[in-house]
Amino acid sequence: MITVDTIQWYLKEAATLGVKEFYFTGGEPFLHPQIADILQEALKYGPTTVLSNGTLITDGLSQTLAQVSRISKHKLEFRVSLESFIEEENDQIRGMGSFKRATRGIQSLVHAGFNPIITVADWSKYGKFTKEMAEGFQSLERSLNIPQLRLKKLPLVLLGRCAEFVRPYDESERVTEKCFDNYPMDNLQCATSRIVTSKGVFVCPILIAAPKAWMGWTLGESLGSYTMESPACYTCRTSGLTCKNEYLEAKDIVRESVNEFYATAAIQPQKELCCPSNYTPADLSHIPPEVLNISYGCGSPVTQANIEPGESVLDLGSGGGIDCFIAAKMVGEQGQVIGIDMTDEMLRNANASREIVARNLGFDNVRFMKGFLEEIPLADECVDLVTSNCVINLSAQKEKVFLEIFRVLKTGGRFVISDIVSDREVPVSMKRDKILWSECISGAITETEVFNITKKIGFYGLEIINRSLYKEVNGFKFYSVTARGYKYMKSPECKYTGQYAIYKGPFSSISDDDDHTYPMGIPIEICTDTAWKLSNPPYKGMFLISNLQNTDVKISCGSKCC
Ligand SMILES: C[S@@+](CC[C@H](N)C(=O)[O-])C[C@H]1O[C@@H](n2cnc3c(N)ncnc32)[C@H](O)[C@@H]1O
Ligand code: SF4
Repeated sequence: MITVDTIQWYLKEAATLGVKEFYFTGGEPFLHPQIADILQEALKYGPTTVLSNGTLITDGLSQTLAQVSRISKHKLEFRVSLESFIEEENDQIRGMGSFKRATRGIQSLVHAGFNPIITVADWSKYGKFTKEMAEGFQSLERSLNIPQLRLKKLPLVLLGRCAEFVRPYDESERVTEKCFDNYPMDNLQCATSRIVTSKGVFVCPILIAAPKAWMGWTLGESLGSYTMESPACYTCRTSGLTCKNEYLEAKDIVRESVNEFYATAAIQPQKELCCPSNYTPADLSHIPPEVLNISYGCGSPVTQANIEPGESVLDLGSGGGIDCFIAAKMVGEQGQVIGIDMTDEMLRNANASREIVARNLGFDNVRFMKGFLEEIPLADECVDLVTSNCVINLSAQKEKVFLEIFRVLKTGGRFVISDIVSDREVPVSMKRDKILWSECISGAITETEVFNITKKIGFYGLEIINRSLYKEVNGFKFYSVTARGYKYMKSPECKYTGQYAIYKGPFSSISDDDDHTYPMGIPIEICTDTAWKLSNPPYKGMFLISNLQNTDVKISCGSKCC
C-alpha cells in the first residue's frame, strides 16, 4: 500500500511540474487507513477527486471528509462507480449487496454536503443491461437526494473481467500511427496525466497491470511517450475515454428547468423577476411595451458598450429581445444584431416584436436564432461585440460560454455583460433549488471566479463598469455587475521595432494583463502587438506611443510577450 510519505513526495514533484488536478483511485481508495490525511495533503496542491466503489463510505467518514474539505482551499470531489441503476444488474458484476452499500455511501456523502458524481460503464454498446441509462440514473439520483445529476459515462475497456464478461479485443482493434493524423492528442488521458503507485509511475490507470506501461520511478522520468501497443488504446482513440471529471449531464438538467421557467415567463410576465434598469425613453421609443413586460435583465449592457454605427452585435440569452432592439437603433441600417436564446416561447415573442421595431426604425437589422450559449451557432470571429443581460449565471458551463464568446468575437472585439454574482461560493443546498437557479440566484459565481475564467481564456482589459446589490438570500449577497473585456489574438508577425509606451498617469505606475509594468512618465519598450493594444480601447488615451525609433527589428517577440 502506498504510504503518506510517498504520496507527499510525489505531490511536491507534481507541483513543480505544474500538475493541476489530483485523482485517487484503487483498488478502493477508502481501504487506505490514512485516506483523510492523504486527501488533506493533496488538497494543498489542487482540486482532488476520489474514485471509489462507495461501499466503505460511512456517515462518520463522510463527516470527516467534509471537515477536510472545509479547511482546504481546493475542491474535494467524489465519484462513485455503479454498473447499473438496477440493483440486480449492478450486483451481477460488483457482487451481492454492493449496490445497497454503494448507494448508502452516496447518501452519506450527500448528507455531509457533497454532490457526488456517479461513474457508470457504458455496457449498452455491447447489448448488456438497459439502454435507458440516463433516465434511470436520473431517477436513482433523485431518490438518493443527490443535489444535481452528475453522471460520468465511461466506455468499456475490454481487459480483465470485462473481457470475460463481454469479449476480448479483436486482433484488428489496435491503433497505428495513422490513427493519430490530425488527431488532437490532448484528448488522450495519457497526454496530460500519469498514475503514481507504490511500484512507480505508469502511463495511465487502465494499464496499471501492464509491465510495458511502467514509465519510471518519478513523474519526471515518466514524461516520455508510450508506444500505445495496448488494445485499450483503441478504446481511448475511438471513444475519447478520459477519467477526468465532466459535468455534461448536469448541463442538460439545468437547461431543462431553466427552459421550462422562461417558457412560462415569456407568456406570463413575472414582475418580481424584473430589475430596475437604466434605459432612457430615447433607448425605448421604437420598442413595443410587450417587450418591456418580459424584460428580465439585471443591467443595461448595450447602453454601456459604446456601440458604433455599422457594428455587429450578438446578444446571448436575448429573451424578449429588449437589448437587441436597443442595439438595433445604435448600429443603424449598416449594422447587424443577432439574438440567441434556447426558449421557443421567448423567440416567438421576440420575432413578433421584431416586425414592429423594423417598421418603427425603417430598417430590419435584427435576427433571432435558436441556440445555446455553450454552443453558439455562429462562425468564428464574426461579431464586434457580445452582450448578455442576466443569462450566464443560468448556465452550468460558464467557462464553456466564455470560450464560445472568445471564439465568435473578432480580434479586438469586446464583451459587455450584466450578470448576477455572489459574495462567496453558493452552497450545494441552494444550487439544487431549481427555482432559485432559474431566478438568477443560485447559479451565480463570484466576481473573482468570473475574472479568473475570462483571464485564463485570454480576454484582456477586464473592467467592472457597474456594481449594485441585487438581493440577499439566506445570508448570501448577490450583486448585479456589468463587466467588460476584450479579445486579442497574438499575431504571428509581432516584433519589437523600437516602439515605446509612456504611461501618462495619474497613478504612479500600472501593469497590464501581460505583466508589463509602466511607471508614470518612463518610456517602456513594447512589441507591435502591445502597441496596438495600448492604442485601442480600453487603454486608448492612457499612453503616449512613440513613433518608430529604430527601423531594425531587434528582438523577435517571444510567445509570452503579449
Ligand atoms: C433572465 S432571462 C434574460 C433575458 C434577456 N436577456 C433580458 O434581459 O430580458 C434569461 C434568458 O436566457 C435564456 N437562456 C438561459 N440559459 C440559456 C442557455 N444555456 N442557452 C440559451 N439561452 C439560455 C432563457 O431562455 C431566457 O430567455
Ligand atoms: S490506454 Fe493507451 S491511449 Fe488510453 S490513456 Fe492509456 S496509454 Fe493512453
